Amino acid sequence: MAENEKKVVFSGVQPSGNLTIGNYLGAIKNFSRFSEEYKTFYCVVELHAITVRQVPAELRKRTYETLALYMACGLDPTKNTLFVQSHVPQHAELGWMLDCYTMFGELSRMTQFKDKSAKHSQNINAGLFTYPTLMAADILLYQTDLVPVGIDQKQHLELARDIAIRFNQLYGDTFRVPEGYIPTDTMKIMSLAEPTAKMSKSDTNQNAVVYILDSKDDIIRKFKRAVTDSDTRVCFSEDKPGVSNLMTVYRAFTGKSFEEIEREFDGRGYGDFKLAVGEACADGLAPVRAEFDRLIKDKAYLEEVMKAGAQDAFVNARRTMSKVRRKIGFVNI
Ligand code: TYM
Repeated sequence: MAENEKKVVFSGVQPSGNLTIGNYLGAIKNFSRFSEEYKTFYCVVELHAITVRQVPAELRKRTYETLALYMACGLDPTKNTLFVQSHVPQHAELGWMLDCYTMFGELSRMTQFKDKSAKHSQNINAGLFTYPTLMAADILLYQTDLVPVGIDQKQHLELARDIAIRFNQLYGDTFRVPEGYIPTDTMKIMSLAEPTAKMSKSDTNQNAVVYILDSKDDIIRKFKRAVTDSDTRVCFSEDKPGVSNLMTVYRAFTGKSFEEIEREFDGRGYGDFKLAVGEACADGLAPVRAEFDRLIKDKAYLEEVMKAGAQDAFVNARRTMSKVRRKIGFVNI
């Protein structure tokens, strides 16, 4: 199929912390399945990351790392446009414009804004509030059809759709209205310490979170300590959130069904089960870690990838921006 006839996929990850198996199973692992059939844009969204204070040197380091992880997870830069958000200035430009088509009430209802405001009560900045509009700009800039994300991004995605529909109603067809691609089996990986809360890269409890780049020993140790319940049966059930979360992870790494897992650990207790989950996860991530270690040493190559990605994204973004400017009534020179 010709490049310009392909449907478009866009997604992004914030370089705001070390990436977790939640980021991997909920999002990044799925990215490469679109590489052949779709035109794909995968972005490192550091403009979003600065809505929370970042240590500059760490932010820079994580930007390289996130790009390297994209590739280590199977994204070939010759088949996918891999780039860094601030290298394509149209994201911020369209973000501002879309702010003017987004209502205060809509942004006030965003649960992520409420959660983050509670967590960062000393720094409830305007960027934190308009975060979803910038995310809408990311998506709409590329005339995106499909957005692979975890379930926590669903509300933001719905807002992006609402903004696109509103703009199109005002000015005629301008933006494609995107759909989410939310994996039903791994859309929300939970914390190992508090299995009713999402596993999050910003969690300060290191035992609650398994990072993609953790060593095998660390991964096994963390799963061994995972909070479960006072029962001993390995079975999937709403009132067993800890065990159910571990089963979800085990299923994702082994391809076994819940019934098979229940049978495998029938009468064996949690100890054996937790060890098996840790080993499956560590073994599944080992090739990613090895490839990451190789890529991260070559900064010049990573910068080449960033540059080529930004150039391609820029050309696509410019096309949409010229349309948007004309529709709004700005003078194009
Ligand atoms: P971020 O950086 O928080 O997370 C990156 C991706 O990982 C998914 N995810 C999870 N999935 C399952 N279980 C979990 N515990 C888990 N934790 C995170 C997220 O849903 C996400 O898909 N706002 C976005 C970044 C963004 C974006 C975009 C995404 C900016 N612009 C445009 C898509 C399209 C975010 O904070 O992701």
